Amino acid sequence: MSTAAPFAFLVHPRGRIAQDLARIWRPLGRVPEGIVETAVRRLPPYAMSRILLDDRPVGHVVLVPFGARHLLSEPHEGRARVGRAIDHAARLGAGVVGLGALTATVTAGGATLRGRTDIGVTNGNAYTAAIVEDQLLDLVADLSDRRVAVVGATGSVGTTLVRLLAAGGSVDSLLLVARGAVKLQALAAEVGGRVPTTTSTDLHDVRGCDAVVLLTASADALLGAEHLAPGARVLDATQPRNTSPDLAAARPDVTLVDGGVVEIPGMHLRGGDIGLPRGQAYACFAETFLLGLAGHVGHFSTGVPTLDHVSHIRGLADRFAHHGFTAAAPASFGRPLAAAR
Ligand SMILES: NC(=O)c1ccc[n+]([C@@H]2O[C@H](COP(=O)([O-])OP(=O)(O)OC[C@H]3O[C@@H](n4cnc5c(N)ncnc54)[C@H](OP(=O)(O)O)[C@@H]3O)[C@@H](O)[C@H]2O)c1
Repeated sequence: MSTAAPFAFLVHPRGRIAQDLARIWRPLGRVPEGIVETAVRRLPPYAMSRILLDDRPVGHVVLVPFGARHLLSEPHEGRARVGRAIDHAARLGAGVVGLGALTATVTAGGATLRGRTDIGVTNGNAYTAAIVEDQLLDLVADLSDRRVAVVGATGSVGTTLVRLLAAGGSVDSLLLVARGAVKLQALAAEVGGRVPTTTSTDLHDVRGCDAVVLLTASADALLGAEHLAPGARVLDATQPRNTSPDLAAARPDVTLVDGGVVEIPGMHLRGGDIGLPRGQAYACFAETFLLGLAGHVGHFSTGVPTLDHVSHIRGLADRFAHHGFTAAAPASFGRPLAAAR
């Protein structure tokens, strides 16, 4: 019988570092970006907030002081920083650590950490793919045509989502988009027998689709007004975001929904927040949380999660449903969808 164990979740500054750090200490938001960036690089990893469930401490958010752009442009240094943050999580007594946002990307979805025996690692991507699938099916439920593009299809979350959608048979066709054609073709060959599947390395091709799911690991807002069909539905699960509020303003016909957000009503953070209101969490955070509640021992999702990982984590979400663990109500840049329209 497993018992709950403390867990830790790694985060890093996303777009503007000063803006993100102002969540911990507001005056930092007023310091010029270049100064903050230089100073932050010198910091060790640090436990920026306590995670509480029904006012009981259950874990820590650990900050990797290395921005999104640096993680992508200096992956070797990024991996070293992530390793040091995991050492810190282990010292804090965490049994399992979740890799938030690009800390997963620089460690190949945690695959480079499989050798660690002192702590369990998860990239959170099994539950992320499950929640994104739930949100997508909800988003296209009233459409008669369900041609779906997955941008970042060959990544850890993207591959798992594509496999789920193909297994579920609930979409009419898939367009798989990324920069690398070889991986795209291999994935299309794998799932193409179940659902008609095409591939593209050109984002403009998503214009032929009714719905677009964004799952790239790019630090730039990629999707523009020119990419989308009239009335398209967009689910953006990227961190940092690949859409900007300008897109919503330029294309009021498009429905743009925040992806990968989960309700855990009794949960809140003491210290800095991580960009979501009280009672909400990113799905990768929620996966780590579920593993902590279940007292999971050892690694969980690393690299590309299997559909067995997805079934297991969905089972834990059902087991702990009294704490929530369902997809958040649809919102766009944090505003409830009805209000955002
Ligand atoms: N909301 C949540 O809870 C949650 C949880 C986990 C992850 N995420 C977010 O989900 C995203 C994906 O995470 P991941 O771990 O699956 O990443 P990943 O394994 O690194 O995969 C990234 C994918 O994006 C593609 N890509 C990268 N840059 C691109 C570009 N400029 N244009 C088109 N495709 C591009 C990559 O293929 P190529 O290199 O071939 O282009 C790959 O298919 C990240 O933004 C992450 O922060 C959110």
